[in-house]
Amino acid sequence: MVRKIGYLVGFGFVLALLLSLWSNVKDAIANPTPESATEQLHKEPRPLSLASDGPFGRFDRAQLQRGFQVYSEVCSACHSLKYVAFYDLAQLGYTPAEIKKIASDWKTEVPTVNPDTGEASTRKALASDHFPSPFANETAARAANNNALPPDLSLITKAREGGAPYVHSLITGYAAQTPDLVRKYPEVKTPTGLHYNPYFANLNIAMPPPLTSDGQVEYKDGTKPTVDQMAKDVSAFLVWTAEPKLENRHRAGLAAIVFLLFGTVFAYFAYRTIWAEAKRKVQAKGPLDPEHRATMDKQKAEHGIAG
Ligand code: HEC
Repeated sequence: MVRKIGYLVGFGFVLALLLSLWSNVKDAIANPTPESATEQLHKEPRPLSLASDGPFGRFDRAQLQRGFQVYSEVCSACHSLKYVAFYDLAQLGYTPAEIKKIASDWKTEVPTVNPDTGEASTRKALASDHFPSPFANETAARAANNNALPPDLSLITKAREGGAPYVHSLITGYAAQTPDLVRKYPEVKTPTGLHYNPYFANLNIAMPPPLTSDGQVEYKDGTKPTVDQMAKDVSAFLVWTAEPKLENRHRAGLAAIVFLLFGTVFAYFAYRTIWAEAKRKVQAKGPLDPEHRATMDKQKAEHGIAG
């Protein structure tokens, strides 16, 4: 009796839960939560194809050098590259003498301590230094950028969903907010000091458009420095900073696949060799041997024996 009451109570609970689930599901289907203005206006990065894409991708050294030029002439005014050292530029094809010069000419000096007085000071960068931050500290960086912190760019193509195409779309994606748009979505109106950019997660970014006119940098290799080209080059450069060993990884992956293919073929032949004896042994012999049975059946038929 007690057990039956227990079942009934349990059943009551299950019924109540199912009913409430049903009404919630019905509600969610009938009145879906409307997309917010940010969700409606936010854009996915436009496709970008780089030489380093895909399993056979290799860096285009000339493009990386152009990208480095854009970084050093434009982006480095606000962004550091703290995981990249000047000597790493050798991988882009710069000679040690060129690297030494790039480091000692770098606009931002490197923080150090005066060995005589112990006071904080700065010195010219050396090839062994990492690209310094243009700001002394976070407070100074925020004070200069409308309270936003320009992130270190070394790993940015790994840190942001969309990678290099995102960086390319972001820096070429600034747009004017039309009065129509503001009327329709008053909540996304750009506050003073920010800039409307539909590729940025919350649509209004503190970074002013860094690349504004064609020819902002002068390329030595004859490539036309359009805004789009400069954005592409700097995005390619930031793929390299985030993964300088990308080519090694691609090469190792390829070697591993070839090795595994050979391994599979060898494993198949090894299997055939090892099982060759055993397979012969389980061949049907005696009365179960199909050949033997065929002869038997024939003889039975000849002598009129059934079964
Ligand atoms: C005047 C300073 C300034 C310059 C120059 C500048 N940036 Fe920025 N950048 C910022 C600030 C500030 C932010 C942070 C924006 C925010 O959080 O709203 C930022 C953010 C970014 C972000 C991260 C966006 C995200 O998803 O969080 C990327 C990528 C970026 N900048 C790339 C570049 C590149 C590439 C250049 C050079 C072509 C450049 N920036 C030049 C100030 C600058």
